[in-house]
Amino acid sequence: MKKILTTCLFICLVWSVHAQFNPQKEIDYCAKQALKTINSLPPDGQGSNIPRSIDKDKTAWRLVDYKDWCSGFWSGALWYLYEGTKNPVFKVQAERFDKQLKPLSQEKAYDHDLGFQIFCSYGNGYRLTNNPSYKNVILATADTLATLYNPKVGTILSWPREVKKFGAHNTIIDNVINLELLFWAAKNGKNKNLYKIAEQHALTTMKNHFRDDYTSYHVVLYDTLTGQKIKGITHQGYADNTMWARGQSWAIYGFTMCYRFTKNPQFLDFAQKVTDVYLKNLPDDSLIPYWDFNTPEIPNTTRDASAAAVTASALFELSNYVKNPKTKARYISKAKKMLESLSSSVYQSREINDAFLLHSTGNRPINGEVDASIIYGDYYYIEALLKYKKLLKMK
Ligand code: GLY
Repeated sequence: MKKILTTCLFICLVWSVHAQFNPQKEIDYCAKQALKTINSLPPDGQGSNIPRSIDKDKTAWRLVDYKDWCSGFWSGALWYLYEGTKNPVFKVQAERFDKQLKPLSQEKAYDHDLGFQIFCSYGNGYRLTNNPSYKNVILATADTLATLYNPKVGTILSWPREVKKFGAHNTIIDNVINLELLFWAAKNGKNKNLYKIAEQHALTTMKNHFRDDYTSYHVVLYDTLTGQKIKGITHQGYADNTMWARGQSWAIYGFTMCYRFTKNPQFLDFAQKVTDVYLKNLPDDSLIPYWDFNTPEIPNTTRDASAAAVTASALFELSNYVKNPKTKARYISKAKKMLESLSSSVYQSREINDAFLLHSTGNRPINGEVDASIIYGDYYYIEALLKYKKLLKMK
């Protein structure tokens, strides 16, 4: 009886926050934008043609090739559009761009971004098609990513190219997202060691990557030989001790995903802690964070729509795991509000350019992709819309 009442209460709470916002309408908007992009891209074999970002006040996509860390988000977004609209054009296009990424499964690992590159693209492709050749690419890439693991430290070396500069093993918070590739490969392939690597990376990160208030450092440096933590610093945040918005959103998403695979309650508890400090400090107006929560330039600085998209997507998943119906409903309500803000005329690109969203901030300290449309913002936005659609049980 108690269970029935709790379930009824949860359904009422969820429905009370669901009025009016229609995710399918926004998915259809994204599809329209993507069709414009598809029509504007150069043909294959004539240089880079994978969309990455559109600078503020520009209309043309900055195009990259398969080696770029953002190369997998475009085909990932196409797969989601295929799922959300059933339009076969998106499947054909996703397959076209996936093909370009295949060398990543055979080449030496350049950095940790292999997860973003291959799991967003081939991961979604395999989920929707069960094509065994996709699975092979994913499994081979997971083995490649694992070559960057340092067992002494207990984490993956995120940026091999920066070891000389830092004089140390480095791990960035973003790296926690790429554990999904390893967890998935361990579950679906033969290399069970990948599970241990991913789990240990998450445990080490949980121990060393956060301040007492559960806000994240962007980068942690470790002594390569002893494995000891040296210090936490920033790379894309305002300062070493501030909360870089997208970094914290990677943490929210990452630890939620770690719980999905491990069912270790420590990860669920931690995912809630890193979420709660983020939610507590968000601007009330739109729930879209400034690019860094502690930059003294607030409110005269740029927001980061991509961090909001990542967080909204993560919150829908996290809400599935928490038991308390009020907490569940709170996470869903926040995620929905984030999606509403992102779907407003302030944040959608509409006629301004062909991306889905405006106002993401890539790397503010070097003035890179500031107040821009960035492909990973679009990817997590469409992912979150689909999760919300599923929650509403819409066909
Ligand atoms: N992974 C790099 C970034 O979030 O900008």
